[in-house]
Amino acid sequence: MKKIVAASLFGALMGVPLLLALDEQGLMAKMKAAGGHMGDLRKAIEANSRADVATHAKAMAKAYQGLEGFFAARHMADAAKWSGEGLAASKELAAAAKKGNTEAVHAAMGKLGGTCKQCHATHREKLADGTYKIK
Ligand code: HEC
Repeated sequence: MKKIVAASLFGALMGVPLLLALDEQGLMAKMKAAGGHMGDLRKAIEANSRADVATHAKAMAKAYQGLEGFFAARHMADAAKWSGEGLAASKELAAAAKKGNTEAVHAAMGKLGGTCKQCHATHREKLADGTYKIK
């Protein structure tokens, strides 16, 4: 824990993505955040609130930051690729929302959701106690 805090502080100070030091605990925190942002995004899209879609899409991009490196370091090339695509889709989503381009919002949301599904289908294992782990 100390190590994570120190690494985060260092990352924040240096202005670099703190996920250089992302570990499995950190991944879980990011996933929980991504789950929350996904719910917020769906609500914002349904309510047709451009500003909220942009805000939550940016938060989603933050959750995806560092994922690609995390999986690349574990030699999980497919997961690294989906991570990069999810980050790009989050940014596209924020940009589309700002422009008020509904079609592009839906396209980016579809891409984003596809990355969650593909990676979970391949690399997420549900344990008997209801928690998850990487496989
Ligand atoms: C590149 C792989 C990958 C992508 C992309 C990905 N996930 Fe995950 N996710 C995982 C893995 C592996 C786990 C299991 C380990 C864990 O929980 O940290 C997981 C676990 C989760 C969990 C359970 C967290 C917990 O432990 O309670 C949620 C919720 C979740 N992901 C949501 C999302 C959402 C929403 C997206 C897309 C916006 C997404 N994930 C994209 C790999 C991914």
